[in-house]
Amino acid sequence: MANMKEIAKIAGVSLGTVSHVLNGSAAVREPLRKRVMEAVDALGYQPSQLARGLRRDKTNMIGMIIPDVTNPFFPAVVRGAEDVAFEHGYRLVLCNTDNDHSKEIAHLNELRTYLPSGLIVIPSNFSDLTTQAESYRRSGAAVVCVDRLPKDWNGDTVTADNEHGAYDATNYLLRQGHRHLAIITGPRHLTNAQQRLKGFKRALHEKKISIGPEYIQETSFDQQGGHAKTLLLLRMIPRPTAIFAGNDMIAFGAILAFREAGLRCPEDISLIGFDNLDMAEMCSPSLSSVSQPGYQMGNAAARILIDRVRGDAGPAKHVVIETALKIRESVAPPPAGSSNGRRPAR
Ligand code: RIB
Repeated sequence: MANMKEIAKIAGVSLGTVSHVLNGSAAVREPLRKRVMEAVDALGYQPSQLARGLRRDKTNMIGMIIPDVTNPFFPAVVRGAEDVAFEHGYRLVLCNTDNDHSKEIAHLNELRTYLPSGLIVIPSNFSDLTTQAESYRRSGAAVVCVDRLPKDWNGDTVTADNEHGAYDATNYLLRQGHRHLAIITGPRHLTNAQQRLKGFKRALHEKKISIGPEYIQETSFDQQGGHAKTLLLLRMIPRPTAIFAGNDMIAFGAILAFREAGLRCPEDISLIGFDNLDMAEMCSPSLSSVSQPGYQMGNAAARILIDRVRGDAGPAKHVVIETALKIRESVAPPPAGSSNGRRPAR
């Protein structure tokens, strides 16, 4: 396999000049640079990232860990990070944890052996990232946390304004006249689920509306959980006339439950989700949802990480990206005759 010495010989330059051209470590006059690159092409030289990494104790790899590769929200975050990483000469290695913190630890331990420049992590359930990140920091690798934050995290973060997004969605339902609302949250140990529940409760509190604890249901952020918890809510008396789902996957499960129960959405019951996945537009009824800008979150996380790798030693950054409420077919005023303060139809 060709090496730098052979390149130097063919190009008629020093080994140091070859190294400067290939590593971009110093300016080289154009005629010399051209001769080096011609020799590289002639020899079909491929620099060894691992060899370069061992020399620098760092490779151009960025590890990215996500909790659920089947949820379309996360690939959007990955794409945003990857676009920035590639633009700056870094390569992303993607790991999925299935929301399992022991799998997250396995990925963290393995990624460390590749001498990454840094990590972008969307923590799993019960993540121990705070402890694990310390060893990365000691080795000079940056770690940025996205979307939900592990216990005692004090590093860089990029999140959406979950609380305000949920507050907006709940207020919209209240303005439609709903008074018997319910929420199906994600796992309440996750900060994003906590913040969405907080926004939901704040909107109700401001309108002096109280709901029983049974109208606050918790499940995993997936369709199966949304389906099961919606069937439970539909058996309650009074039946809720509107459900705020902690994410779109939960909302898709709710739509299936409405159909099984013979209920029309929104004529009999309204629904709002969170994430505004592409499927929200295509499902029937089209789903009203809080748009969470996954691509921008990934983009911002990668920019923060690369700045850290390049020497930014300032205080921890906390980027909070605004959400936006997208209203579609799944919301209407409460059905006539429901006990929402409206006279039953004669
Ligand atoms: O992990 C599930 C949810 O967390 C996603 O749907 C998205 O809302 C993220 O915040």
